[in-house]
Amino acid sequence: MDCFVTHLEAAIDGTVLPAGELQTVHQDRPLLVRYDLPAIAASVRPEQLRDRPPTIWRYRELLPIGGDQAVTLGEGCSPLLPCPRLGAEMGIQDLWIKDESQLPTGSFKSRGLAMAISMARRFGVRRVAIPSAGNAGGAAAAYAARAGIEAYVFMPEDTPVINQYECRLAGARAYLVNGLINDCGRIVQQGKPHMNWFDLSTMREPYRVEGKKTMGLELAEQFEWQLPDVILYPTGGGTGMIGMWKAFQELAEIGWLKSPRRPRMVAVQSDGCAPIVRAFEAGLRFAEPVDRPRTIASGIRVPAAIGDFLVLDVLRESGGRGVAVAEGRLAEWNRLAVSREGIPVCPEAAACVGALEMLLAEGWINPRERVVIFNTGAAQKYAEAIACDLPRLDIRAPIDWRSLA
Ligand SMILES: Cc1ncc(COP(=O)(O)O)c(C=O)c1O
Repeated sequence: MDCFVTHLEAAIDGTVLPAGELQTVHQDRPLLVRYDLPAIAASVRPEQLRDRPPTIWRYRELLPIGGDQAVTLGEGCSPLLPCPRLGAEMGIQDLWIKDESQLPTGSFKSRGLAMAISMARRFGVRRVAIPSAGNAGGAAAAYAARAGIEAYVFMPEDTPVINQYECRLAGARAYLVNGLINDCGRIVQQGKPHMNWFDLSTMREPYRVEGKKTMGLELAEQFEWQLPDVILYPTGGGTGMIGMWKAFQELAEIGWLKSPRRPRMVAVQSDGCAPIVRAFEAGLRFAEPVDRPRTIASGIRVPAAIGDFLVLDVLRESGGRGVAVAEGRLAEWNRLAVSREGIPVCPEAAACVGALEMLLAEGWINPRERVVIFNTGAAQKYAEAIACDLPRLDIRAPIDWRSLA
């Protein structure tokens, strides 16, 4: 298969780096993969996708590696589900959830890690390490197992237990750290000379974001190349936000979008950890790290991100914004979304339901606009956050049927 990658570009200053070798960061900031977009436009049309399997690899021209060389668990395409009942409850007519909970390992992290591990294997990497809030660790462990690569995962000790167990189950060497995800990241960096591992941290290698880009490619294809008005996305390290925006830019450049209109991108965080939102509101280029991040939505418990400026660029360019929602109401929005639509919405996506409520009340979203929420992970992975006591029935006593009503 033809590969259309031309080079890697440093996001901070445009420095060009070769794509044919293992790369990490430039000036401690991310690298982005660049393609020969005119050549892609000349070689493939959207109609040709119809006969390709429904996985992320169907967009092969816009990816750094083809499906034939991929480490894959069959990731993508996730369903894009209309949500009339939740929409009616919230007062909006055209609400959708893109349900990433159905991907391998139960979260959107499989997209990025399928790509990063595929590229790492191509470059001969034998051992990887990742700091993780939970889902990325589980996905890294699974894809590394699939590739026959050794994986080390470092997680804060309050990471949901299911994430801890899935790492171990997949054979990773998983450790709990009495600190934040950034402390885990420091362990990965400090360990490099001693352990000779490749660092898979968010935005510290260029390919996870290419995997996340497929969320935007899929969304565009599922809506027949017409993008929605607003995207609400639970933002931690920012790969999804950066990847989707990159997808829309590339699709526009190869002429596949039916309209030049792009969505207003909304980065949703909890008010217990909202560095991107605060930086957006203060008009800053980079975010200030949060001291004591606190949220049950572990995937967005990210106090500092090296791609912060890229996320802020997306919010500003798209006419979007950052929204911090009340940590204390996440469980309520979570129950509301799951009980109205049956979609196993994770606490991170529940924050987006809260953001929708707020933005409708403010009039920033019009009730007739098309709005998409990303459900980035499966509710079932958050045993602690969704725990509840069920009423019990005693088989030795007659059942009082009225009490069941
Ligand atoms: C369920 C969930 N949602 C959202 C995020 C944030 O991801 P991103 O790096 O795309 O901002 C994460 C990251 O761990 C996550 O696990």
